[in-house]
Amino acid sequence: MGCTIIGCGKQLPALDVPNEELTKLVDTSDEWISSRTGILSRRVCVGEGNVDLAEGAARQALGWADGGYSERKIAPEDIDLIIYSTITPDEVVPTCAAVLRRRLGLVNAAAFDMNAACSGFIYGLTIAETMMACSAPGAAGAAGRNPIRRALVVGGERLTRIVDWNDRNTCVLFGDGAGAAVVEWDERKPGILAWYIKNDDDDSNALTCPSAYDAPQPFTPEGIDADALQQADPGTAPIDAELDVTERVAAGAPRQALYMNGQKVFKFATSVMPAAIEEVLRRANLTIDDVQFIVPHQANLRIIKYAAKRMGLPLERFQVSIAHRGNSSSACIPMTLCDAYESGNIHPGDKVALVGFGGGFTSGAVLYEA
Ligand code: ACO
Repeated sequence: MGCTIIGCGKQLPALDVPNEELTKLVDTSDEWISSRTGILSRRVCVGEGNVDLAEGAARQALGWADGGYSERKIAPEDIDLIIYSTITPDEVVPTCAAVLRRRLGLVNAAAFDMNAACSGFIYGLTIAETMMACSAPGAAGAAGRNPIRRALVVGGERLTRIVDWNDRNTCVLFGDGAGAAVVEWDERKPGILAWYIKNDDDDSNALTCPSAYDAPQPFTPEGIDADALQQADPGTAPIDAELDVTERVAAGAPRQALYMNGQKVFKFATSVMPAAIEEVLRRANLTIDDVQFIVPHQANLRIIKYAAKRMGLPLERFQVSIAHRGNSSSACIPMTLCDAYESGNIHPGDKVALVGFGGGFTSGAVLYEA
């Protein structure tokens, strides 16, 4: 109670790539993609970086730019924390959060990146809410913590960077974008009513993308060996074997690209989405009839329809934004939330559920009162 969403924004890259264009790359069709996924086109970064998109999204969320939704304009010095969820940071160091902090002049903000795959924005909100609650005046131990009154929570992705554009099983599904929300601690308001996060083991390695770190290693078990610099980093071998990357690379797949077994992820997604919503409702002592609107992760229209059916809800109670975006991992939920505000689908006092799932087999939901 008390952590309230007071602004959100989004930004997409300029280039729109319709399904038909992808037939220049792989054996696919607009009919296959649209009927299986609901995707008609996706936005792709050309020259734009992850933080460029996040900056546009954050400026809307802070009330500094047109578009999005904001209760009021927030002064730069009033943001205490930036949590930036991404699986595709522009750089390892500085973090995306640090670059965003500099560009926006958020001089008082502690800033860090985090990765919980497509559920990242949900996880980010739970961290922000917890840090606010723990540092609120009167909370046990609050005097020993940073006081966090306002946080900027971002989901930003340049997902097309890790896509294998020769793999029709994956390349048609993804796009780029960024979304951001400003949350504020206000004990007079209900704000976030409940949250729930969970990991299931992705025991068949259905969703993987090896790290891009590749500095040559001049070491053997005996010590320094300059000749070792010519060989592949041996430290990747055990994790590559564990995640079935070795096999795929031996069969000719690129190492540093997203791999997905769509059917396994589909099965996981359709079971955890309703389960996560049920759990936040149970924790808030509410029922689905108390919820006016649901903002789900946008991986596949069929997944959203399936979850709606399982919960006995009409599709109109869900924000669906997949048609011209595709799946942009942790950016999906904040961008879709922004769409819901811009379309007038969320009204003051409404109870709204955000729900996501993703790699590592993370999942989770946040239930809040608008
Ligand atoms: N165009 C044409 N044919 C294709 C394409 C394509 N782009 N991709 C696959 N096919 C073929 C397959 O090769 C297969 O052919 P076959 O029967 O001859 O072997 C056939 O279409 C059917 O393939 P399926 O995998 O059974 O298709 P399905 O109906 O399961 O749809 C999809 C695939 C869209 C990937 C679906 O399984 C899905 O959405 N899964 C969930 C994905 C998801 O939610 N990802 C989220 C996480 S991503 C992240 O975290 C970054």
